[in-house]
Amino acid sequence: MAGVPVDMIAIDPEGPGGPEVLVPVQRPVPVPKDGEVLVKVAAAGVNRPDVLQRLGLYPMPPGAPSIPGLEIAGEIVALGSGTGRLQIGQQVCALVAGGGYAQYCTVPEGQCLPVPEGLTLIEAASLPETYFTVWSNLFERGYGAPGETALIHGGTSGIGVTAILLCKAFGLTSIVTCGSAEKCAAALALGADHAIDYKAQDFVAEVAAITGGRGVNLVLDMVGGDYLARNVKCLGESGRHVSIAFQRGQTGELDLGAVMRKGLILTGSMLRPRSIEYKSLLADSLAADVWPLFAGGGLKAVVDRVFPLEAAADAHRYLESGEHVGKVVLEIAHGQADAA
Ligand SMILES: NC(=O)c1ccc[n+]([C@@H]2O[C@H](COP(=O)([O-])OP(=O)(O)OC[C@H]3O[C@@H](n4cnc5c(N)ncnc54)[C@H](OP(=O)(O)O)[C@@H]3O)[C@@H](O)[C@H]2O)c1
Repeated sequence: MAGVPVDMIAIDPEGPGGPEVLVPVQRPVPVPKDGEVLVKVAAAGVNRPDVLQRLGLYPMPPGAPSIPGLEIAGEIVALGSGTGRLQIGQQVCALVAGGGYAQYCTVPEGQCLPVPEGLTLIEAASLPETYFTVWSNLFERGYGAPGETALIHGGTSGIGVTAILLCKAFGLTSIVTCGSAEKCAAALALGADHAIDYKAQDFVAEVAAITGGRGVNLVLDMVGGDYLARNVKCLGESGRHVSIAFQRGQTGELDLGAVMRKGLILTGSMLRPRSIEYKSLLADSLAADVWPLFAGGGLKAVVDRVFPLEAAADAHRYLESGEHVGKVVLEIAHGQADAA
């Protein structure tokens, strides 16, 4: 691969542990396989699933790289066989099944998206994981439609801010829950229609008051556990409950009477183990219907803090502190490995 070094700097922990396992090491630059491109990574997003992976609590899909990182932005520097849509020198952002915390990363061509107009590579790197997740769950699984109301937990999380912006862009009313008054204010400033401080208020009563007792059309849930029963109380007629995580527990109590009376649908999904074909279709749909909205200001990247790759441990500590609003991103320099 002309102009591409043999080795690179990456974060590739030897085993599970605290943030301190995230130290820079030298690794071979990956070679793109059939249908893949090689990206010289400028920035990589940090997501909660990276923390779970670091702790050894994430079921890794077979064949996924041990290097963490689910989203990147950078420049294409090599093409594998069977590619043809993209060219060397193009800037892209991409959803990856792992390998993002590194100077170079391979990615199936179909999972690349253009860098949205007006966005930096750091901002672009903050998008794929949450946009693929929220787009598919809010609209494809949850059947969210203009004029409907969605209850979104974790309003200031990476997922939450994306959900707020997508609801606003596509005509849904959003009600979010957050863990403090400050986070509620931040969510409202980003465009949430209502924000509930779940530590100070009962979100079930608040949702009933906001919706005049009708309930919401859908819940995007990352909490699980005892929230399941409470979410079901918040859902109105023909409501949809979409699970994307279970931070308070994998099991919960379900009132089947409510499911039957209200005609509820309960569903959920996990993005990472899905096929390249599925993710490529999602990328096409995002490119057609969502990416153009960045140019007009209808959508924006919400980057809270940027850390150098070498400080990935600090980035994880910061994410785990829960202080962030939106995304944490790693910026990746190239002096060292290129000189090697
Ligand atoms: N299924 C999928 O395909 C998929 C894809 C991506 C992410 N996810 C999941 O989605 C979640 C959000 O990811 P992220 O990267 O956006 O994470 P993040 O920015 O770290 O946010 C986590 C959020 O969870 C909230 N939270 C934590 N514990 C809570 C509790 N006990 N009760 C209520 N809220 C709680 C926090 O809200 P407060 O600080 O306000 O309490 C915070 O906003 C993660 O659980 C992640 O694993 C799933």
